[in-house]
Amino acid sequence: MTPTLKRRIVPSILSADFADLSRQLKLVEQAGAGSVQIDVMDGHFVPNITVGPVVVKWMRKCTKLFLDVHLMIENPWIYVEEFVKAGAGLLTVHYEACPQPADVIAQIKKLGVKAGMAIKPKTPVEAFDPVLKDLDYALVMTVEPGFGGQEFMADMLPKVRHLREIIDREKLCCEVQVDGGINIKTAPVAAQAGATSLVAGSAVYGANDPARAFQELQKLVVDLPSISKVK
Ligand code: DX5
Repeated sequence: MTPTLKRRIVPSILSADFADLSRQLKLVEQAGAGSVQIDVMDGHFVPNITVGPVVVKWMRKCTKLFLDVHLMIENPWIYVEEFVKAGAGLLTVHYEACPQPADVIAQIKKLGVKAGMAIKPKTPVEAFDPVLKDLDYALVMTVEPGFGGQEFMADMLPKVRHLREIIDREKLCCEVQVDGGINIKTAPVAAQAGATSLVAGSAVYGANDPARAFQELQKLVVDLPSISKVK
């Protein structure tokens, strides 16, 4: 029997109504979400600017959700302490922004929170090899980072499968996360390739009923058998 993996949909606030953020968080929290992803962008590493530690700090005050902070910024090591102080539970940095990724991962873990590393679509999955054993999350971007509402890049699935196979073989405790274009069509495909954490922005907060949209996505992936050889 192919083991089923515990999979979770992680709503991303990038597509939420920022004028009503506290309520938007409550919607998915009451719908059963365990965490929410905050996309931090600096206008240099990606061609978009979003939020910083101050928003994370206020979000910490208004929700019990686990705060998954995705740092799409240059020189992330300068800011990790500030984001941890603000209430981040997970900090994911980009391989492409870190000359020494292992050092930044160690810095994050020393601050007592979970550490993740993300790779852009053009970066080979082998970038994870030296650090996978130290990671809590390996994030495979399934869009070019910077904006919500983009098309899912199915050619990223071999990276997800590759990570699934290594993590299972080496019995590592690293989650495989995907982010970008996750919706009712693509979530099952990414889940069956081996993703255990699936970030969904526009599919949740772009829906008329975000709570219901979250629950439908979660139901789709929760007990799918993982088919690591999915094409
Ligand atoms: C891209 C962002 C988005 C966001 C999710 O830089 O990281 O992927 O979290 O956006 P959707 O789900 O709308 O593609």
